[in-house]
Amino acid sequence: MHWKHLFAKKDLETLLAEMAGEHRLHRALGPVALTTIGVGCIIGAGIFVVTGKAAALDAGPAVIVSYLVCAVSCVLAALCYAEFAAMAPVAGSAYTYAYTTLGEIFAWMIGWDLILEYAMACATVASAWSNYLNKFLLAISNDYLQIPKQLLFDPFTSVEGLAGHPWLSLPSVCITLVIMAILILGIRESARTNAVLVSIKLSVVLLVIGVGCAYIQPANWTSIPYAERSLPEEFAMHDLARNHLLKQNPDKEITAEEVDRLTKQLRSEYRVSWIKQETERLQKAGRLSKDEAQGMVDSTIAKAMANMPRTEEDHQTVQELLPEVRETAKATATKSWGILAFLGIDRWLQPIDDSLRGPFMPYGLSGIMLGAAIVFFAYIGFDSISTHAEEAKNPARDMPIAILSSLAVCTVLYVAVTAVITGMVPYPNIDIHAPIAAAFADKAIEEKSTLLKIATSLIAAGGLAGMTSVLLVMLQSQARIFMAMSRDGLLPKVFSVVHPRFRTPHLSTLITGTGICLVAAFTPIQKLEEMVNIGTLMAFAIVCAAVLMLRIQRPNAKRPFRCPVIWIVAPLGVVVNFAMMLFLPGDTWARLVIWLLIGLSIYFLYSHRHSHLIKNLVHEIQVPGAVDQGFETTE
Ligand code: ALA
Repeated sequence: MHWKHLFAKKDLETLLAEMAGEHRLHRALGPVALTTIGVGCIIGAGIFVVTGKAAALDAGPAVIVSYLVCAVSCVLAALCYAEFAAMAPVAGSAYTYAYTTLGEIFAWMIGWDLILEYAMACATVASAWSNYLNKFLLAISNDYLQIPKQLLFDPFTSVEGLAGHPWLSLPSVCITLVIMAILILGIRESARTNAVLVSIKLSVVLLVIGVGCAYIQPANWTSIPYAERSLPEEFAMHDLARNHLLKQNPDKEITAEEVDRLTKQLRSEYRVSWIKQETERLQKAGRLSKDEAQGMVDSTIAKAMANMPRTEEDHQTVQELLPEVRETAKATATKSWGILAFLGIDRWLQPIDDSLRGPFMPYGLSGIMLGAAIVFFAYIGFDSISTHAEEAKNPARDMPIAILSSLAVCTVLYVAVTAVITGMVPYPNIDIHAPIAAAFADKAIEEKSTLLKIATSLIAAGGLAGMTSVLLVMLQSQARIFMAMSRDGLLPKVFSVVHPRFRTPHLSTLITGTGICLVAAFTPIQKLEEMVNIGTLMAFAIVCAAVLMLRIQRPNAKRPFRCPVIWIVAPLGVVVNFAMMLFLPGDTWARLVIWLLIGLSIYFLYSHRHSHLIKNLVHEIQVPGAVDQGFETTE
């Protein structure tokens, strides 16, 4: 192996020549169909589920700002994607772009990284789909029908109302299997299914905005004291309570009520001790007056009163568990600073947070940035349009139009929906599993309104439709990236087999879908989602860098769409996307590194040895002139 071969690049003409070969995909998609694919892939679990967690736990009402920060990062990346997608309209997206600019090893790493974006995102969405199915069943059956909690969550998630651990997320497995079948049947059929699903979800999003506006209370944005925000350590309490009860009563069956009761007592007691410490800290830092501090302590005690431990035994149990909660608190205290905390930079940034903290941004600047790194998930998907370049009728014109317009539509809708939800529900009470459906369900009960009840069912159904279309496009995109990698010899041939009748990569879809089923059934959604985000942010940053490099390396190559002010857009794209990665937790970074190392091992053990490009280069050395290096297609 010659080290230079690791950086061997595929020239654009080779890519275009490959497109003329047999077994290519149908060119069936125009600009509207492509934009629909984009919107189909963008609006899904992000807005219907992830927003709830980001608003309730990470950013508060300022999650609206988090969405705007993400929009900036995505527009920068989208402009770069659009230039590439118009230049090289073949399946493969960022993987193919990296192959033409950075070289094979980078292309492989990006292709490997894109598994995080597409396959893992599919698993995340399938898992979120389960919760909406449950909300839908509850809404249409007057709270009579629901899926047993054991079959609704992965075994690592701690669920209130359940004494043991769940078994698996069964609905996610079922929906993935259905999507797999639709995709194998063909692009025309799946584009049609997608268009129907997109219309349903857009109508529902507009319904949420239209109806929800009437129930906005601006005080929810401006008047909730920031001491009422949720604390990350509170989420470990349910497990802690359960484990403690199991240890104390090895021979007795523990009920869900007992676990929930102890969890509430622990939460109340901890909150009171936490607010005392926090107000003291802020008083010392000159951020609170004595009276303000006392007011915050008094109101926290008043709220906690109902669930404080009453008996001596309860009190003792809670005191026994508090040190463990404090340990968790220490571990999570720096979480919102992500990897910056690991590097020790959070110490200088903490005062900024304290000075900005208020009812609108209860978690300060770090909350907004962590929120952005989390809700970024909601934007993922516009780039999937580029994986359909090979099926576009006029890729040079349609790719940029579709990428930019789907992103613009989604940004406007996202900002409006988050404003509505944080305006309707005090952010600490936002449901983290199904925030939009739950906001309307609660309002329907509060207002005793049948219309709101019907709206709740429609929203839950729309959420399901929305997520289904995301699954459809994501799984399709992943199968196409594998196909591109397989055509280059970097993956086994089975991934690029195109079905003779359906003209779809059926085996690639089958293998990918099976993997997704397993991950969705057994992996916690939050961890999955963080992995998806870090992987995608990395891919975006690399695409921004690669488009700039190609401008330098190949200034005369034909560019049907040119990214405007590339010298500002591309470097800024790298910086903003990388900055968002920094706010993701250290363990997510560690998983990314492990994932990339596994990818590198596979590259050296299999892909490099089977690469068609490398084989051709070796042949070229032996038979000069055998490989055409003519990339310079002039404008
Ligand atoms: N953007 C997609 C979603 O929100 C992944 O579901």
